[in-house]
Amino acid sequence: MPKILKFPPDFLWGVSTSAYQIEGGISNDWSEWEKSIAGENGANHTCGQACDSYNRYEEDLDLVKGLNCGAYRMGLEWARIEPKPGKFDQTEIEHYRKVLTAAKKRNLKVVLTLWHWTNPIWLAAEGGWANKKAVEYFARFVKLITGELGSQVDYWVTINEPMVAIANGYVTGKFPPNKKNIWQALKVYNNLVKAHQAGYEIIYKKFPKAQVGLTMLANYFEPAHRWNLIEVFFAKIANHCWNDRFVKKLKNQFDFLGLDYYFHDRIIWHPPFKKNLNKATTDLGWEIYPAGILEVLKNYSKFKKPLFIMENGLADQSDLKRAKFITDHLKYVHEAISQGVDVRGYFYWSLIDNFEWAEGFKPKFGLYSVDRKIFKRQARPSAKVYAEICKNNEVRVN
Ligand code: BGC
Repeated sequence: MPKILKFPPDFLWGVSTSAYQIEGGISNDWSEWEKSIAGENGANHTCGQACDSYNRYEEDLDLVKGLNCGAYRMGLEWARIEPKPGKFDQTEIEHYRKVLTAAKKRNLKVVLTLWHWTNPIWLAAEGGWANKKAVEYFARFVKLITGELGSQVDYWVTINEPMVAIANGYVTGKFPPNKKNIWQALKVYNNLVKAHQAGYEIIYKKFPKAQVGLTMLANYFEPAHRWNLIEVFFAKIANHCWNDRFVKKLKNQFDFLGLDYYFHDRIIWHPPFKKNLNKATTDLGWEIYPAGILEVLKNYSKFKKPLFIMENGLADQSDLKRAKFITDHLKYVHEAISQGVDVRGYFYWSLIDNFEWAEGFKPKFGLYSVDRKIFKRQARPSAKVYAEICKNNEVRVN
């Protein structure tokens, strides 16, 4: 007999997307970089029309409703809105107003991400986030958005996963601006802290009841052997540096935390310092480790703010693992709530297959597949399972 796990009555069910990954037709620092690597990686790594969501947002919102979700996390593309420094494009602001109005018409709560890694070309030319002026520029952008669109936003995500942007952009060099420069990484780190704080203040001034937060890529760092004090120590350090430190720097200037859970890192005491057992993996080779979501929720509960799982999902083209993946993770989210952790919502990543950054279009994270030629969306079987969960506010586990 399956066990039924009920979620709190106002638990928010949703799906997440980001602007660059789905909209299409955007010129920003990422699209410029794609041009420079086009020969190496081929068309699969050119975002181009993405999922054409810029034109198909009504259809996408219908899909969100079709999943019985109460919320939609979407992003704005800064480069569209401010193609030249200080020159805002009113047509694009109107576009986003239409998207938000369409979401509201469908009675969806909107989680709006203001910065999900991509920058206007002019900002990149000025040194991007390593330039301290980026904070002022971001604040000017947030001020405009707050005034123009703020009344339609329920939850604000100022920045998405700062640690990923810093690590991939300035340490490993995997993402634009492809630097391997610790000094610059530190500058970007501090500027992103300030950008969040500036955004928080601006939104508050206009909307004193606003809910403003950010998302963190929340990894579960686990010592491979609990008796090994070196591994325990390394896991603690990793947790502090990757999960906690940035949040502590914000000095309590946030109303909620959005956690994006994908990774479990099993720490060993010698190089390469990580050895996962990988009993089950996704198409990207990432370990599937549902129990870790409970651990990251418990870890972040120390900040004493409401928590949302703002992203959790997997690349699974066959869709054979997705329904179980969702159910298994939700079992642990439920457990966290039972243990007193203040979890307010769960957002699956992602609504539709999309442009997976440096991996291109190959990984399929969507509850809906997208035909790359005609952009037709098609529900995968797991969409039905997630829709049932959202509708009944419960998950059935064995
Ligand atoms: C990012 C998404 C990305 C997802 C899957 C998250 O870290 O916010 O943009 O698509 O992971 O890799």
